[in-house]
Amino acid sequence: MRRKLFAGNWKLNGNLVANGTLLRGIKSGADAMQVELAVCVPAPYLAQCSEILAHSGIALGAQDVSSHTVGAYTGEVSARMLQDFGCRYVIVGHSERREYHCETNDDVANKAQRALAAGITPIICVGETLGEREKEQTTGIIHAQMNAILSLLDPHETADIVVAYEPIWAIGTGKTATPDMAQEVHAIIRHMLEVKSAEAGRGVRILYGGSMRPENAEALLRMPDIDGGLIGGAALRATDFLSIAAAAPSPDARQTEK
Ligand code: 13P
Repeated sequence: MRRKLFAGNWKLNGNLVANGTLLRGIKSGADAMQVELAVCVPAPYLAQCSEILAHSGIALGAQDVSSHTVGAYTGEVSARMLQDFGCRYVIVGHSERREYHCETNDDVANKAQRALAAGITPIICVGETLGEREKEQTTGIIHAQMNAILSLLDPHETADIVVAYEPIWAIGTGKTATPDMAQEVHAIIRHMLEVKSAEAGRGVRILYGGSMRPENAEALLRMPDIDGGLIGGAALRATDFLSIAAAAPSPDARQTEK
C-alpha cells in the first residue's frame, strides 16, 4: 500500500516570520491526516524549520542537492549537510533547475544517487514543455528523463525514490493536466519502474505537480497511479495545503470507485 505524500515546494519564498506562521498552521491541522506531509524549504531555513517541525510527524525536505560530496564547489549544499538537519526528502531535477541552471538528466541522476547514499529520499521531477506535448513528444521526454535515473540506480535504490510528474506548462500557470492526462503519464512512469524492479513498481510513489489546488486535487488523486502531490503556490497557505492533502480519498474509497 502506497501512503500518499504531499510535499510543499516553497521555492524562493519565505522569511523567518512567515515560515513560523505557515508551519504552525500546517502543524495545527496535520494530526488528523492519514497521509504524509513534507515541506521542502529554502536551504537557509532548514535549521529553523527543523526545530519547529521536531516531533510533528511532518517531514523536512530541501529543494536541491549538490552532485558532489565535498570540496571546492562554491554555493553548493551536499547531501551530508542536508542529513545534518534531518532532511527526509530533497527535490532533484525540478524543471526550474533544469531550465535556469542547465541541469541535465545525468546531473539529476547523480544528485538522486548522492541523496540516496546519505539516506535521503530524492523526489525526482520529470515533465514535458507545452511544445513537446503539442508535438506528441511527451512519452519520449519522460523515457529519457527516467532512463537516466534508472540506468544509474540499482533496483534496490530505485525502490527508495519518489517521482514527481510535473508538466512544465502546468507549473504556476493555473493550468492543470486533466486527471486522465496525468494518469496516462503516471502509468508510463509506473511501467518503467516495474521493468526495473517489481518492488519499485509497486512501492514508489508518483506525485503530480502543476497548479494542484483544493478544487482540482480530489479528481487527480482518484487516479490509480497518482500517489500525492508536489505543490508550489498552494503550499504557501496552510489551509490550501491541508485541504489538498485532505482531498486524498482513502485507499478503500478509491478501490470502490474504480
Ligand atoms: P505550482 O503548484 O505553483 O504550479 O508549482 C508546482 C511546482 O513546481 C511544484 O514543484
